[in-house]
Amino acid sequence: MQTVDLHSDDQSAVEQAAALLVDLLPEGWSTMESALREVAESLPDERISRIAREGEEVVGWVSGQEAYIGHTWELHPLVVKRERHRQGIGRALVADLEERVRERGGHTVYLGTDDERGETSLANIELYPDPLEHAARITNPGGHPYEFYQHVGYTIVGVLPDANGFGRPDIFMAKRIAPLAAPQT
Ligand SMILES: CC(C)(COP(=O)(O)OP(=O)(O)OC[C@H]1O[C@@H](n2cnc3c(N)ncnc32)[C@H](O)[C@@H]1OP(=O)(O)O)[C@@H](O)C(=O)NCCC(=O)NCCS
Repeated sequence: MQTVDLHSDDQSAVEQAAALLVDLLPEGWSTMESALREVAESLPDERISRIAREGEEVVGWVSGQEAYIGHTWELHPLVVKRERHRQGIGRALVADLEERVRERGGHTVYLGTDDERGETSLANIELYPDPLEHAARITNPGGHPYEFYQHVGYTIVGVLPDANGFGRPDIFMAKRIAPLAAPQT
């Protein structure tokens, strides 16, 4: 497996990345048209767009965009081909994205991972008045990917109650990927 830039002139790879979105995250991208738009938006030089490929087959895709100039990048989105889950491809793509962010001077990567399917203990309940208290006690009966991100070093840093409608929160996670000096006191 190789991890390489996704280029706009590689139409087959662009379409395979879009097809992964529709297959794996249909809540966000229900049609090829919307998924192709998302992939196209990841291709300009100011973004990071990387695919895991085996020959001509795309087995995963990750993208990132600068969110706090010169500091922090958002990972969005990440998908690994269904038949290839739990083989280390997601971990490799996240590590690759982090390396690309370091090259561009960033020190933190963050992401939002929605719970739209009621997979975690944060779903289908009232999270106010203390969403962070619920987040501190999160459990994962449905196999939500937040645990994948914990395995690769991310920490839950917040939760947005009802982000996608009542009981469907977004879970925010982040990781420091480069040393950062604390301010002198
Ligand atoms: C989440 C996803 C990218 C993980 O990719 P993957 O290639 O299967 O992950 P890896 O094999 O690299 O797993 C890395 C570690 O995380 C663990 N892990 C992977 N998915 C997990 C899950 N859903 N729950 C708990 N742990 C998980 C693995 O066991 C492995 O642990 P270890 O190396 O410490 O033993 C993949 O399942 C996917 O594409 N899911 C659908 C799309 C999606 O949810 N994307 C994220 C939206 S924010």
